[in-house]
Amino acid sequence: MDLLVVGSGFFGLTIAERAASVGRKVTVIDRRHHIGGNAYSANDPETGIEVHQYGAHLFHTSNPTVWEYVNRFTTFTNYVHRVYTNHKGIVFPLPINLGTINQFFQAAYSPNEAKAVIADLAREFDVKDAANLEEKGIALIGRPLYEAFIRDYTAKQWQTDPRNLPAEVISRLPVRYNYDNRYFNDTWEGLPTDGYTAWIERMADHPNIDVQLGVDFFDPAQPLNKEATVGQLPIVYTGPIDRYFDDAEGALSWRTLDFEKEVLSVGDFQGTSVMNYADSDIPYTRIHEFKHFHPERADRYPADKTVVMREFSRFASRDDEPYYPVNTAEDRAGLLAYRELAKGEKDVYFGGRLGTYQYLDMHMAIGSALSMWNNQLA
Ligand code: FDA
Repeated sequence: MDLLVVGSGFFGLTIAERAASVGRKVTVIDRRHHIGGNAYSANDPETGIEVHQYGAHLFHTSNPTVWEYVNRFTTFTNYVHRVYTNHKGIVFPLPINLGTINQFFQAAYSPNEAKAVIADLAREFDVKDAANLEEKGIALIGRPLYEAFIRDYTAKQWQTDPRNLPAEVISRLPVRYNYDNRYFNDTWEGLPTDGYTAWIERMADHPNIDVQLGVDFFDPAQPLNKEATVGQLPIVYTGPIDRYFDDAEGALSWRTLDFEKEVLSVGDFQGTSVMNYADSDIPYTRIHEFKHFHPERADRYPADKTVVMREFSRFASRDDEPYYPVNTAEDRAGLLAYRELAKGEKDVYFGGRLGTYQYLDMHMAIGSALSMWNNQLA
């Protein structure tokens, strides 16, 4: 074995695939019993509908290198992501655009008229002096839109009143003064035609790659554990950076999500893939309806059944799946300390969203793995 990769998500598999392609023997271990990390999907046994097991995953990128690379393993459908939100029982398009504004104010503002209305409402606070997230939100889009679409949704996401959240949590709130409600602005967008797992399996399908599932790097009973391997060969580690050092500088904080999946005896529940729930009286943040990610599979999916998944957000404890870094001042200080410790680990390369404590979209995880391969490992 020439290289050990800890974690079979997109970061780890990209490194493994690159190394294998130039003749290196790679072993990939993952503590879970499937490959693919959080991008893993599986068909619901009752309906055959592909369900993203760790929350909806939409692929999009403007990076030509990443786009060329991912197309070696899968083709993509022409799916374009759009999100809607339910506020007081009325559905509005997101991100906030001229359609949202005109529907909300029951108006027919032109782009310039809408800009003037929002600028006037936003005068209540100054972005520079905003003392908390609420003041910043109002300074960016005005109180009415903030209270309707941001306040309660943010409170649900963070389990915290936005008046008690730092202003830095939001840098900007994009408002589009046209009717474009495409969620992403990237050059390329789509979903893997045969699903995420087929894509991921093709990346790992190489005689030089050995994947071992159900293997925890910190389990001393496993032959490929930390004690036995560090210093013996190069290791790419994509698990949580704090866990690697036994939380020596404190545990970094994360938010996690709970998902409630349900099969419904109705052909179409909500008419779209993702519906947000903006208000505080609904405990979940959104409902995913998976068949809408693949309209081209209509002839394969049942016409009288659908799979929905409600998403709930909360702070993660030690045993929960870490999903989004909370990134408090304490976390940032801890991360700097861990980066210093990481420099002292000979031939261990920390990568991916857990290994660097940052939110990464799939194209970013793949792009940063390609850079690590080219610049440090190749
Ligand atoms: P990832 O978490 O996928 O993989 C790390 C792997 O390491 C895991 O499989 C884990 O089990 C393993 N591991 C950890 N500790 C270990 C140990 N001690 N021993 C062995 N193995 C260990 N992106 C996007 O582009 N579009 C989208 O729509 C979304 N949506 C989305 C929703 C949600 C809820 C989340 C949390 C994330 C997204 N993403 C996304 C981001 C996407 O999931 C992310 O880019 C990739 O998962 C990053 O891949 P990594 O390989 O870095 O981590």
